[in-house]
Amino acid sequence: MASIDDDKKAAAIAAVAEVQDGMLVGLGTGSTAAFAIQALGDRVAQGLQIRAVVTSEASGKLARELGIEILDFATIAHVDLTIDGADEIDSRCFAIKGAGGAMLREKIVAAASARMVVIADSSKRVDRIGAAKLPVEVLPFAIAYVMHVLTDMAAAPKIRDNYRTDQGNLVIDCHFATLDDPRATAATLAAIPGILGHGLFLDEVDAAYIATDGVVTRLERMGASD
Ligand code: 5RP
Repeated sequence: MASIDDDKKAAAIAAVAEVQDGMLVGLGTGSTAAFAIQALGDRVAQGLQIRAVVTSEASGKLARELGIEILDFATIAHVDLTIDGADEIDSRCFAIKGAGGAMLREKIVAAASARMVVIADSSKRVDRIGAAKLPVEVLPFAIAYVMHVLTDMAAAPKIRDNYRTDQGNLVIDCHFATLDDPRATAATLAAIPGILGHGLFLDEVDAAYIATDGVVTRLERMGASD
């Protein structure tokens, strides 16, 4: 029986197989994305010619250690393929991200990407997203106001303890009782002054590689296939 880490690695290797010479690759954040960075580093060591942008300082450090050339995303408007983890992913390719706190940069890099694939072990695969905590990145100046608004929305907001994002901002983790209309929730969160980004990825994910006991299934946005 494969361990969770075996499955994260299997999903990562399957996604990294999509990377071709000459691509500019977006590198996600978290333990599953780290397996993808490792697999990409292995392919670079074997001669694959790519460049990459990263969604966090931690992923940048790992990628550089593995010999992957990292570009400053501030100079980049288009990424060919981004590979990232998720906290939940459903059959619509709707995802919740941000347990690792990098959802703002992850959303920006995903938006700039021609294709974004999520990699995950089967514990992340759900019928409908909504049980995982939904993080929002908040400008520290606005923290009291945003907490007040989220409390009024029954989001059960909790400021993440002793945590700052790579941008120096705060994260509030929300728990909505239900997430029946994720688009409405995403629009509401995006409209609150002081919230800089949130972990609902509703239009960004094109496909997901999900590993269960060593077997990887590919889920494409408009249906699933092996
Ligand atoms: C970071 C993320 C991560 O991709 C997500 O939390 C999954 O992490 P892990 O692979 O460690 O479970 O969104 O902001």
